[in-house]
Amino acid sequence: MGRVLSGIQPSGQLTLGNYIGAMQNYVKLQHTEECYFMVVDLHAISVAQEPAKLREQSEAVAALFIAAGIDPLKANVYMQSHVRAHAELGWIMTTLSNMGELERMTQFKEKSAGKESVGAGLFVYPPLMAADILVYNSDLVPVGDDQKQHLELTRDLAGRFNSRYGEYFKIPEPYIPKVGARIMSLDDASKKMSKSNPNPGSYIALLDPPDVIRKKISRATTDSGREVKFDPASKPEISNLISIYSHCANMSVQEVEARYEGQGYGPFKKDLAEHVVSVIEPLQANYNEIRKSGEIHAILKQGAERAAAVADRTLAEVKERMGFLPPQ
Ligand code: TYM
Repeated sequence: MGRVLSGIQPSGQLTLGNYIGAMQNYVKLQHTEECYFMVVDLHAISVAQEPAKLREQSEAVAALFIAAGIDPLKANVYMQSHVRAHAELGWIMTTLSNMGELERMTQFKEKSAGKESVGAGLFVYPPLMAADILVYNSDLVPVGDDQKQHLELTRDLAGRFNSRYGEYFKIPEPYIPKVGARIMSLDDASKKMSKSNPNPGSYIALLDPPDVIRKKISRATTDSGREVKFDPASKPEISNLISIYSHCANMSVQEVEARYEGQGYGPFKKDLAEHVVSVIEPLQANYNEIRKSGEIHAILKQGAERAAAVADRTLAEVKERMGFLPPQ
């Protein structure tokens, strides 16, 4: 059994992009691997959050993990801030990082572009993410395409630690879906589908009512022509919708293309909306039940206890190797 770690920020509505790019793989991996899935609240505060909203969204994301099919008896689900070793190893990873490599992170560049004042938390976000992964000595990290560069940095930091203080960390591998690693905006396939887009028509939120989902899909931008063909270079909008279709209907891209041969975009989009709704509706029913039951708090407590037992051991070993005087 390998170790798997991943996390999602509670900084807004979760989207179908989060679900396809990451959560679907969490659900899959829990059956064979030792899994740690966190709500990364410490990362969320790298930009200012309103306290009441942060609290609500943290609970909502944790409940969505369970609603999407993560079984708390199989996988550990918890809040990042409940396992203190993350923040402490995060500082250690920050001290191993160079300014230059952090400046090259595209997510940092995007989030700081054009801003007069940029929070230091955004800058040291990637070493905290490295700590999240390394504190469990993880083998696999299920993420969407946008996190690949952060994973590369994590691998570099693990290697740097190993060469300074002796082989200790495993070098983790990203686990990225072949199709759907980058679900794009419904209004512009050159941009990633994102909860921070000011146009809500650009994303499908996991908690959008079914009729809103149908409307958003019917209004989704399509390419010229009418052929339902997967060709991201010349038909980026339709290719994005085909990726979504393929995941929600559990069909290959080729099967989707074959089904709509000669039919045009209309019937394709109509069926796509129903497939998306058929995935999201049961998830929402589960979500409402979990929120009502209040059981999420016990799940998070147990997850954090188990995670801390592993993380604290790693941190103690790391500190010993680095020459920290151990507490007596
Ligand atoms: P976050 O919260 O932005 O996104 C959570 C996960 O969803 C994936 N994702 C997407 N996949 C496909 N298409 C999209 N449009 C899309 N949008 C988001 C992301 O790739 C991610 O896997 N830095 C991370 C959180 C994090 C983390 C970690 C991840 C903190 N520590 C340790 C893995 C391991 C982030 O901001 O994800």
